[in-house]
Amino acid sequence: MAAETDHDLFSEGYARYVDSKDELRHYRDEFIIPTLGDLERKSIAIEEEIKTELWGLDWSLPSVYLCGNSLGLQPRRTRTYLQQYLDTWGTKGVNGHFTRHTDALTRPWVDIDEDCAAAIAPIVGAEKDEVAVMQSLTANLHLLMASFYKPTVKRWKIIMEEKAFPSDHYAVYSQVAHHGFPDSSVVLIPPSSPSTHYLSTQSILDTITAHADTTALILLPGVHFYSGQLLDIPTITAHAHSHGITIGWDLAHAVGNVPLRLHEWGVDFAAWCSYKYLNAGAGSIGGLFVHEQHWGGKVETEDIAPGSAAEQEANGHDTAPPTAPITPSLRGWWGSTKGTRFAMDNTFAPMRGAAAWQLSNPSVLDCTALLASLSIFNEVGMDKLRAKSVLLTGGLIHLLDCWPGLHTAREAGVYEILTPKADGEHGAQVSIRLQEGLLARVMTELERVGVVVDERKPDVVRVAPAPLYNGWQDVWRFMDAFERAVKEAIRRRDGYCQT
Ligand SMILES: Cc1ncc(COP(=O)(O)O)c(C=O)c1O
Repeated sequence: MAAETDHDLFSEGYARYVDSKDELRHYRDEFIIPTLGDLERKSIAIEEEIKTELWGLDWSLPSVYLCGNSLGLQPRRTRTYLQQYLDTWGTKGVNGHFTRHTDALTRPWVDIDEDCAAAIAPIVGAEKDEVAVMQSLTANLHLLMASFYKPTVKRWKIIMEEKAFPSDHYAVYSQVAHHGFPDSSVVLIPPSSPSTHYLSTQSILDTITAHADTTALILLPGVHFYSGQLLDIPTITAHAHSHGITIGWDLAHAVGNVPLRLHEWGVDFAAWCSYKYLNAGAGSIGGLFVHEQHWGGKVETEDIAPGSAAEQEANGHDTAPPTAPITPSLRGWWGSTKGTRFAMDNTFAPMRGAAAWQLSNPSVLDCTALLASLSIFNEVGMDKLRAKSVLLTGGLIHLLDCWPGLHTAREAGVYEILTPKADGEHGAQVSIRLQEGLLARVMTELERVGVVVDERKPDVVRVAPAPLYNGWQDVWRFMDAFERAVKEAIRRRDGYCQT
């Protein structure tokens, strides 16, 4: 085993050395990292003996969890926060909505959405009133498009990218159909490179320009789910606006991953989920952003009825992005000001800003888990996280490019990196495409040694070092396991190993 100060980039000793210098390393202890035994366990209760013999591995070791792009790990403090929620519910019942316990980590339930908005705002670079924590991602995309997609006879198209996440396709096509327009109203931007799914900024700008006169809305991903590419949000947003087009962003893979400045960039609207890099738990509550310029304070006092001439005037612009206030087209009681919610007089008085888009009282369970996780993010700050992320992900790309044990495999084109390599063009995810017929065996081999990554059939492995809980040793252990997995997969496929 290499010495602690070993400077051989490819050694485990060097990985330990790098981690020892990481100023964020103690945040790893804030998370529950499943052990190899945990991943194998068949019961939730820890009753089984941990198998120390199988595969010669120590089953009490932490797994190599590189799947925060799909489901982030559980922060330890989540249990404390949730226990408080359960205790409040258990001891106060309905009064939990209003009870201010002296030792509570969150405000009473009736205000918890405001706490969530305040906590998420710095992570997406927004003013507190520009964000709302609510619903789930696809639902929020629909709610936002209901307000922002106001097709007219002159401008009715939606531009999106061809390889967008399926739910975005469904949402966009169904919005177009809902307004009575044909599928051909959706303009799909093809990847500039079909093999890597890379979208050049220029090709996006060119498509926008080509359809500018007839386009009502653009919806794009901040970070692409498949390739891990980070799009140039400010440049594309500015270009859309120069043509008078409203633009929204699906930030599922960007939030908590890369620093965002939604307010400063003038983004019209955005939506995200909280179960990936935000670590709020499977299917947890989503969030949305509506730029201040669209509600501008007026909405507090002025109510524009949905479908009214005033609203069409405000939203159905033909030449420029909306400047008149946009109110939620679809409404619910939680979007109405607190003072009016229980008045029961059926007068909708919109909350200030994005909060007006809320429909229902939010799941306090979800909000509590989100607040637990966001408290860690806001301790660290996105800039520090990003700095570590660039090192980890850039380092992983470098190792994949020059790991000695994979030299022959690389030469033979056994794998290629789909993710753009420049730091400014990716977040924490590296997508690796394998030669045909290798994916299943590579995944099996990785799983066998406790490396958790995810696959996109038929040939892509996605690997995401999340800087809050992953370190260089995880990257090293992944590379070590990946080398073995690739060699084994080739041996099984070809009957011998060429590496
Ligand atoms: C890019 C993207 N958009 C939309 C979704 C759908 O999210 P939800 O199920 O929360 O609506 C996902 C889910 O992973 C996603 O990755």
